[in-house]
Amino acid sequence: MQVSVLTGDAVRSKVPVVIVCHFEDENRPSGYAAHADTITGKLVTDLLTAGDFKGKMNETLLAYSRTDDGARRILLIGLGKRSEFTLDRYRGTFSTAARYLRDRRITTIAFQAETPVHDFTVSEAVAAAVDGMLLGLYRFTPFKTNDDTTAAMEDCRIFVDSDADLKAIRSAADEARQIADAVAFTRDLVSSPANEMTPVIMASKALELASSSVRVTVLERDEIEQLGMNALIGVAKGSSEPPRFIILEYKGSSKTSPPIVLVGKGVTFDSGGICIKPADKMDQMKDDMAGGAAVMGTIKAAATLSLPINIVGIIPAAENLPGGSAYKPSDVLRSHSGKTIEVINTDAEGRLLLADALSYGHSRYRPQAMIDIATLTGACLVALGEDIIGMLGTHVTVKERLTASAQATGEFLWELPLWDDYNELIKSDIADVKNTGPRFAGTITAALFLKKFTGTTPWVHLDIAGPSWASKDKPYIPKGASGCGVRLLVHCLKNWTDLDE
Ligand code: BES
Ligand code: MN
Ligand code: ZN
Repeated sequence: MQVSVLTGDAVRSKVPVVIVCHFEDENRPSGYAAHADTITGKLVTDLLTAGDFKGKMNETLLAYSRTDDGARRILLIGLGKRSEFTLDRYRGTFSTAARYLRDRRITTIAFQAETPVHDFTVSEAVAAAVDGMLLGLYRFTPFKTNDDTTAAMEDCRIFVDSDADLKAIRSAADEARQIADAVAFTRDLVSSPANEMTPVIMASKALELASSSVRVTVLERDEIEQLGMNALIGVAKGSSEPPRFIILEYKGSSKTSPPIVLVGKGVTFDSGGICIKPADKMDQMKDDMAGGAAVMGTIKAAATLSLPINIVGIIPAAENLPGGSAYKPSDVLRSHSGKTIEVINTDAEGRLLLADALSYGHSRYRPQAMIDIATLTGACLVALGEDIIGMLGTHVTVKERLTASAQATGEFLWELPLWDDYNELIKSDIADVKNTGPRFAGTITAALFLKKFTGTTPWVHLDIAGPSWASKDKPYIPKGASGCGVRLLVHCLKNWTDLDE
């Protein structure tokens, strides 16, 4: 969908439908709706008075104008209660409107730039509307040979009152579109079936991101071995698909300030390995590379937005299968850091390859901070459900920044304690650490395990086992891969300032 921002009045322009918003239980239209009401011969007022439209959250009503003056139709859409308004709800509203129109084969969307409540700027509101429409309209269709889905939405026209506002609103809309493109890129990777998204294919997708500001390096099995990343090698051994270690270096600042390192879990399929998972829902484990895909999407957005910082993305990619040469419970792996790891459960594979990637990130780049993102534990899904990211980490400022970005983007997170006493639970009898503890506090022990490989680098871990995949349609996340993490990380990096030593 094209997004354009122009000066003018939406209802007076020659567009098939104009989106007009209304708060619940208010008997008179306000904001732009009041103007649209005038132009359409009191159409909105009449619908409200008759009780045909209440303004409930995401309520829709397509109505015909009775004047020849402006647009033929308006789509009234409910914003819910004014006192409960959030930008995240606004995203949902615009997604609902866009899907409603697409379902009716309307290919152009138009609305007037405005902010429904004054806590937010017009730019913020427009960015949220664009987010909502683009994220909500997303579909994953490459594997449908007879595509019977409705036509795509082609055009979105956003009207602004005066030339003075044009530049700011246009750049807000452009930025939102660029970030939404990166989210779609990530969703495509995650939705792809495991046979079409192997470590090798993931690496080739990363190579496509290479540009004058992004250097992409892909290490193959022998190079991974030479670097001593035997935890990653261990996970990969049960599959004939070779592992890849993907590095994306984005240089947005000529300053010598150290980079921020993002590490994403890239298990392209997690069968559990020798400790095999039950068949039921095993297909879902194609999304076990969602963290890695989020890192790739974030780097893509950072480069298009020319963020003025240096970022390194690291994705250890492997398939976890129970082949004849698979790693086994009782194996001891010598990790990149030098620490030895006793394998208790081959299904706790994510922390193994992340251990090597974190250790590499710390020692190779001496970064100002590392953030890892991973579909790491079913326990996090149990604790926080499908909508909330689990956060654990060692650095208060980075956690605060991520928390602020979560509020701004609607990619909600909740901190869990990195409870040092639980290190007891992952002590090994024969090695430095074991890869699993007892069932309880599984998200915490997984994070404590990771912490051992981060050296002195400030580090935060994001467990996206829940929100990486939507099991049903959400307001602006169609059922399937959500692209979780991209908007959160991009927001955080966009506002990044160097951490004090
Ligand atoms: N990829 C899974 C975690 C997961 C489970 C993500 C369900 C999304 C939905 C991870 O590799 C895993 O299998 N974790 C195990 C750890 C256990 C063996 C300690 C788990 O959570 O059961
Ligand atoms: Mn697993
Ligand atoms: Zn996994």
